[in-house]
Amino acid sequence: MKYLITGGAGFIGSHLVDKLIKQNHQVVVIDNLSTGKKENLNPKVEFYQLDIRDFNKIKPCFQGVDYVLHLAAIPRVPISIKDPVGTSQVNILGTINVFKAAIDEGVKRIIFASSSSIYGDQKKFPLKENMIPNPLSPYGLQKFVGEQTAKLFVGLYKVPIVCLRYFNVYGPRIDFDSDYSLVLGKFLRLRVQNKPLTIFGDGEQTRAFCYIDDVVDANIKAAESKKIKGGEIINIGQKKSYSINYLSKLIGGSVQYLPPRLGDPLHTQADINLAKKLLNWQPKTDFATGVGKTKEWFENHNLIKK
Ligand code: UD1
Repeated sequence: MKYLITGGAGFIGSHLVDKLIKQNHQVVVIDNLSTGKKENLNPKVEFYQLDIRDFNKIKPCFQGVDYVLHLAAIPRVPISIKDPVGTSQVNILGTINVFKAAIDEGVKRIIFASSSSIYGDQKKFPLKENMIPNPLSPYGLQKFVGEQTAKLFVGLYKVPIVCLRYFNVYGPRIDFDSDYSLVLGKFLRLRVQNKPLTIFGDGEQTRAFCYIDDVVDANIKAAESKKIKGGEIINIGQKKSYSINYLSKLIGGSVQYLPPRLGDPLHTQADINLAKKLLNWQPKTDFATGVGKTKEWFENHNLIKK
């Protein structure tokens, strides 16, 4: 099969590329290398350094493609609060470009990387896909617009688009080198630098962290499952969530408590019954094991100069 992955040089996208190449699929990547890294890129891909905001340039890349995995985005809640306009141009208009280009070229299925940030703060847990969205940040809103566009396009253009709502993905290649890095990457770096782990709020907020290999598995199942008709929204996360205080203990070292971060939901916890039913998917890696594997990768690659 021929797959096209937008954001294929990024953290999640590059793992997907590697897995698909291992399975002998043909893989095309579109990435503008804004957050993706060239060193993540599998040498066997057909690579186009393009921006998803440019419809005319990206469209020909979709010729002959069977499945599209759309992961390109400007991620991070705080970045979206700082720049709601620029992030919307990529995360909303870029997404519409990718969907329409894929549809025009007649692809078989599109898998959209959505986010648990759509839920915002909710009163009931675990979080179920049919709850009323309550995004607390432009990022959450942008992903929600992506999902709604997917549903609309399924009806209008009769192409199956399935949305996977990821819950805090982590694992090797997680970014670690900026203030905006995901919490585990940032904590690993701070620990090596002998600096206190920065905890926003009281650290009792929880996340349903999901290990990268499980997310890759979910994507491949979403591409292949015969139960997908289009318009589905599916949680991809853990049933059990862990607090940031607990994570800081797994990493070790001193901590520093800072004011809560704007746009942060307090808790997440995933109901994964739909993923089980439609994709025959459930996570295989528990949190302590996944954190251990990520730590090992970080230490073995000697990524930080002390
Ligand atoms: C959010 C989305 C997630 C999405 C990601 C993309 C939610 C619930 N999740 O992740 O689906 O993939 O954006 O960027 O919206 N923290 C600290 N100290 C730090 C850094 C973070 O305490 O130095 C805390 C944050 O306050 C937060 C938690 O760790 O409570 C996780 O933060 P982060 O790793 O940035 O991810 P989310 O914003 O939760």
